[in-house]
Amino acid sequence: MYSTASTPPDELAHPSTILIFGASGDLTARKLIPALYTLWKTGYLPDKTQIVGVARREKSDESFRNELFEAVRTSSRTGEVTQADWNTFAQRVHYREVDLQKPKQFDDLKVSLEQLEEQHGLGGQRVVYLATAPSLFLPSIEALDRAGMIPEPYAENWLRVVVEKPFGHDLESAQELSSALGKLLAEKQIYRIDHYLGKETVQNILLFRFGNSIFEPLLNRNHVDHVQITVAESQGMERGRGGYYDQSGALRDVLQNHVLQLLCLIAMEPPSLFRGENIRDEKLKVLQALRPGDPKNIDNWAIPGQYTANEVNGNVLKGYRQEDRIPEVSRRETFVAMEAFIDNWRWEGVPFYMRTGKRMPARGTEIAVKFKLPPLNLFSTVECDGDMCALVEAQQNTLVFRIQPYEGIMLQCSTKRPGMQYQIHPMTMNFAYQDAFEIDLPEAYERLLLDVMRGDSTLFTRSDELEAAWQFVTPVLDHWENRHKDPEFYPAGTWGPDAADRLMTSEGREWRTPSFKKQPH
Ligand code: BG6
Repeated sequence: MYSTASTPPDELAHPSTILIFGASGDLTARKLIPALYTLWKTGYLPDKTQIVGVARREKSDESFRNELFEAVRTSSRTGEVTQADWNTFAQRVHYREVDLQKPKQFDDLKVSLEQLEEQHGLGGQRVVYLATAPSLFLPSIEALDRAGMIPEPYAENWLRVVVEKPFGHDLESAQELSSALGKLLAEKQIYRIDHYLGKETVQNILLFRFGNSIFEPLLNRNHVDHVQITVAESQGMERGRGGYYDQSGALRDVLQNHVLQLLCLIAMEPPSLFRGENIRDEKLKVLQALRPGDPKNIDNWAIPGQYTANEVNGNVLKGYRQEDRIPEVSRRETFVAMEAFIDNWRWEGVPFYMRTGKRMPARGTEIAVKFKLPPLNLFSTVECDGDMCALVEAQQNTLVFRIQPYEGIMLQCSTKRPGMQYQIHPMTMNFAYQDAFEIDLPEAYERLLLDVMRGDSTLFTRSDELEAAWQFVTPVLDHWENRHKDPEFYPAGTWGPDAADRLMTSEGREWRTPSFKKQPH
């Protein structure tokens, strides 16, 4: 067991004012404030830092703090949140009532921030977190500009703007937003968040690949048969998400960003330096080399699915069309499975299968690299149990990056079953974070917020990466929009539609069924 408790708080994060636009929303209460509280509790939040929630509703500092206390108590990963701790932390939390669509109100905001900063000895360095509806991204930045609140990119009183997804809804809208924001902000002032990059196990993909010498030589077309990436969720449309989700769907909501980022990390070349720009350059090359299937036969390699009502272990699960805020005739996909190739020397001809969906049997994310079978099948035996006999042969070695839950890395191999003959026995070498380290893994938003304060954009998406990702998915979105056909249905609580299985079986492969339980398989 290794302790990381002695890791020193980072000296480089700069005290600043963190403004959260859209502070009445779910994200602020569930993720942002709990993450900032934990950073404070663990000594990472720079002293003097002030947090200002900005939203339209009328609220006092006091009532804002009280609302958040409840949220932090339920979401904190640092144990019980005592009233005393909360009171100390909450002194740095404030609320300002501003309608982001009324630019004139920013004049008062500016004055009020300057007073606050003077009171706390802050130098005007600011983070603006856009936790708003996407339609307010641009108006908010325009209003900041009008109020003279956007300093020069290299000014001492810097401004860093964090943009939540969705960043556009297709290639064209993403380009429009990029270009409009680009007129007001420099690229180095924009931090486009993909919270998957803040996950500890996602960051470990690069360390595992490039901090060891024995795996990297195997990760290529000579040894890998295929790669599978699964992001499964058991939830449906809870917490009133239906309104947003029906505009989005699985391809935009998860595959275009989280899944493609995982693909980049497992497929990219080693950067020559472990620096943000070098890593993002390598990820971009993967996205640019990503080759979808035949554009004339999109239905053969991109499968949209939608869950239908089902009963699982006595629980009745609604179908998507019966969920709150979902039209009865919605064709929005709640599942997508896709096959793609990467046209470069390393990966030519190796299929990458990706799938993500709501209302699957469990919540879990993994990347499985399936290696080729040994060239000769020397150890095939017949094993019988009563009358039932089966052929036992070497299985494909599989390297599994388990992103969540029960984070870890597994390597599946074959070994000899003890006995008087050569009989193959599959076994798994397992590295589990929870057995190896004393701490709970940091929440993605903790790491990402800290990185913004440090000015480190390594774990954020650059505009060219984002556009390359949209470029890849947009033809599929357009095709689905125009095909006037229902998605493939699957019963809630299952692994997706039959067509997704056929995508694999037609090529002599099958999806791994991840157990997502504590004991891996
Ligand atoms: C978000 C999506 O980006 O990621 C959600 O909008 C999804 O629909 C979530 O549930 C999944 O994140 P995680 O961290 O729970 O895997």
